[in-house]
Amino acid sequence: MPTAAKSIESEIKKLREEVLRHEELYYVHDRPEISDVEYDALVERLRALEEEHPEFRAPDSPTLRVGGRPAEGFEEYVHRRPMLSLDNSYNIEDLRAFDERCRKLADGRPFEYVAELKIDGLSLSVHYEGGVLARGVTRGDGRVGEDVTQNVRTIRSVPLRLKGAAGGEAEVEVRGEAYLSRKAFERINAEREEAEEAKFANPRNAAAGTIRQLDPKVVARRRLDLFAYDVLRGERKPFPTHWEALEWLAAAGFTVNPHRAKCPDIEGVIKFCNDMEAERDRLEYEIDGVVVKVNSTALQDEFGTTAKAPRWAIAYKYPARQATTQVEEIIVQVGRTGALTPVAVLTPVQLAGTVVARATLHNEDEIKRLGVKIGDWVNIEKSGEIIPKVLSVVTSRRTGEEKSFRFPKKCPVCGGVVSRPEGEVVSRCVAADCPAQLKARLLHYASRRAMRIEGLGDALAEQFVQKGMVRDVANLYDLKLEEVAGLERMAEKSASNLLAQIEASKTRDLPQLVYGLGIRHVGERTAALLARHFRSLEALRTATVEQIDDIHEIGLTVAESVRDWFDDEGNVELCERLRQRGVRTELAGGGVGAQADEAFAGKQFVLTGRLETLTRDEARALIEARGGRVTSTVSKKTDYVVAGEEAGSKLEKAQALGLKVIDEEGLKEMLG
Ligand code: IVH
Repeated sequence: MPTAAKSIESEIKKLREEVLRHEELYYVHDRPEISDVEYDALVERLRALEEEHPEFRAPDSPTLRVGGRPAEGFEEYVHRRPMLSLDNSYNIEDLRAFDERCRKLADGRPFEYVAELKIDGLSLSVHYEGGVLARGVTRGDGRVGEDVTQNVRTIRSVPLRLKGAAGGEAEVEVRGEAYLSRKAFERINAEREEAEEAKFANPRNAAAGTIRQLDPKVVARRRLDLFAYDVLRGERKPFPTHWEALEWLAAAGFTVNPHRAKCPDIEGVIKFCNDMEAERDRLEYEIDGVVVKVNSTALQDEFGTTAKAPRWAIAYKYPARQATTQVEEIIVQVGRTGALTPVAVLTPVQLAGTVVARATLHNEDEIKRLGVKIGDWVNIEKSGEIIPKVLSVVTSRRTGEEKSFRFPKKCPVCGGVVSRPEGEVVSRCVAADCPAQLKARLLHYASRRAMRIEGLGDALAEQFVQKGMVRDVANLYDLKLEEVAGLERMAEKSASNLLAQIEASKTRDLPQLVYGLGIRHVGERTAALLARHFRSLEALRTATVEQIDDIHEIGLTVAESVRDWFDDEGNVELCERLRQRGVRTELAGGGVGAQADEAFAGKQFVLTGRLETLTRDEARALIEARGGRVTSTVSKKTDYVVAGEEAGSKLEKAQALGLKVIDEEGLKEMLG
């Protein structure tokens, strides 16, 4: 081979290994070393080189994740060993009864259980031939599934090539649960809302809908994940215990859920179930219970299965997150784009650990579909952190006293005209000066994923608007300490913290600013695409519809919406005032200062104890201004713990986890 070709081959190989390493850091270890932008750039470079030299593209290249062309539908695939379901148990007695049955079957022989989380997603079977991903299949009816290989390739926690000794296996099948994290689910629904598409009801539905998408590019964007829980060689389990199978899976490069326990008896299992129920809301994904399995493979084989489920395993299901309560009132909220959202005000009811007093009714059509009236008893559902929603009306409890709700013809806040274009489900207040829209725009601008101005919450935004202190987001940068300190329930200290936060927001990057402007149809992801493409607000302002539409992944609706926004002189003037006030309107990266920010970008800090020269809020603002994040709990995801005087349990936990602990001096050094 000529030397030039050789060096290209070796560059492709290096890039490939680099990308795979970063994927593993991100998806498996949850400790990314580079930003998403840098990662995307690496993949793009690899893709370009491979396109020029397809002969050097390896079968496990990460660029294959985004698949080729959309499939025409899916082929059926008969599972070599059926994918069974599980028997359910709903209380501790059921669990003890399961234990009794197992002990009877074991007939005096000792055995242990493995308890693991029951992830609320869909099960997948992934086949490897010679260590390379060969096929991905859905469960289907348990006997016959669908071949969704192209889509499974997009799941980054599914290795394209098995690692270590596992790579030498001729044929193995790995089973696991594919799911969408709460974060991915929320992002997808936010995008769907902007595109005015029907939202998914929960992460499980979204994951199930995603795996059957015909276009693998759509699947890749949605970011499915997988927790592996089983491995088969042919029809057999290759390890003497389930626990060893899990360890093999982790070593082969899969993500195995870290919350699992080997339990010598059912009491240990019960403790695990209770412990995890308390953790449930803090997990980044949804679970609906715990799966309990007999650890020994020999005993599993001996206990066997019924037609539907194994006798050696059981699902312990957590209580459903539904409740019944009464609708006291229906109110209509006005969002930043003027969208009117009806909300049911409920008689407060206890639901999965929180009190629920409101549930969304989405829009006028949804109220019609449900047939809900004021005074109705309704079934509501809460899943994770998501806003509760009304599922159905309990018509049998109607008394005849219920009142129909009339959707307003005018904006309930400003009295402005409401319009609902043909074919759309959303009604909007079209008044330019509607205070409800302004308040929602401020809150959006200040939100975590936009300019992240902590402390600027609902009550403050309301006061800013009502008192006429803020007429658009640029006015936030004109606020004076005395003015803010003079507001209700505002001490001087919190006022100065707020101003420090507002100041710090000036250094957020362009994607956050573009998102924060609240342009219709421009969600977080679109904002990032626009910012990366045009690199400055000025370039975006002057872009034509065609130029925007040309960006891969951006469609005409979005392009027109962006153009419309910048065609409004008021908006152009707003951008100019933001720039004059020192808000960053160009994409960061490159240039001086970028290097220093590297140390902070994407890193998680925890502040604990008393610092000498800085207040905690000041330290927080400084860290955040450089792109770091400050959280309150120490976990293995924490990058730095900044410990001052009398740092207590957080410091201990940090030391126990072997995290990097620095003092105030160390922080200042990092800040330069
Ligand atoms: S074991 C025969 N382990 O729950 C063994 N299943 O209700 C069956 N699931 O179809 C699978 N997390 O989709 C197992 N840690 C876990 C699981 C799990 C979620 C799902 C799986 C299965 C369903 C049964």
